[in-house]
Amino acid sequence: AGVATFTGKPKKADSIPDGSGGFLTLSEKKLLHGQKLTVMQGDLVKTLADAIVNPTNSTYYMGGEVGQAIQKAGGKEFQQEVDDLLNNQGNIATAEAAICPAHNFAAKFVIHVNSPKWNDNNSQQHLDKAVKNVLKLADDKQLKSLALPSISSGRAGFPKQTAAQIILASIRDYFSSAKTTSLKHVYFVLYDLESVNVYTTELARMDN
Ligand code: APR
Repeated sequence: AGVATFTGKPKKADSIPDGSGGFLTLSEKKLLHGQKLTVMQGDLVKTLADAIVNPTNSTYYMGGEVGQAIQKAGGKEFQQEVDDLLNNQGNIATAEAAICPAHNFAAKFVIHVNSPKWNDNNSQQHLDKAVKNVLKLADDKQLKSLALPSISSGRAGFPKQTAAQIILASIRDYFSSAKTTSLKHVYFVLYDLESVNVYTTELARMDN
């Protein structure tokens, strides 16, 4: 899979260049307790956030589209962290998340989440749970910012729009029921044009 394959402006998305290293801010929304939700187009690995999210399987295999990009950037040092994570914490069930330090890219941590596959039983409920588990883990670690890709919509096979709707609803639900949260800023870092268009549309539709 290629990296940085954008050649033109998204057709439906209302793109605003934000001047931050090739990223485009597509849409921004304040959530119930003042958290900011920003949809961006760009490479997750280059995001300046406390943590980025790696959609993976039960053994932290970096064979997803995002995983490959993270593995390539992170090199041996990051691979060692992932190996240590597996040794120390063991496998994670579907929708569960685990965190390890990052190396060789801007984020301080990587949150791995076992992303549900479209064809699995209860995959949509699991995707909702996966997002909430990621947010909860970020809160447990007292992180202020988090960047998520469109979990489950690559190798795991979810239709882009279904993934967008579920993930956005999960984020909104999480913050509306959380009593306290350290998170101030959540970024969706989208890569393919279909995702960009879908997320922008869904975000505009979403209630606060
Ligand atoms: N930055 C941001 N998003 C990206 C990037 C990138 N550099 N590269 C790809 N994407 C997008 C894809 O277009 C897709 O919409 O991230 C989304 C998620 O794709 P994957 O990383 O493949 O994640 P997922 O669908 O959850 O599949 C992960 O792969 O490792 C295996 O079996 C494992 O279940 C796991 C699966």
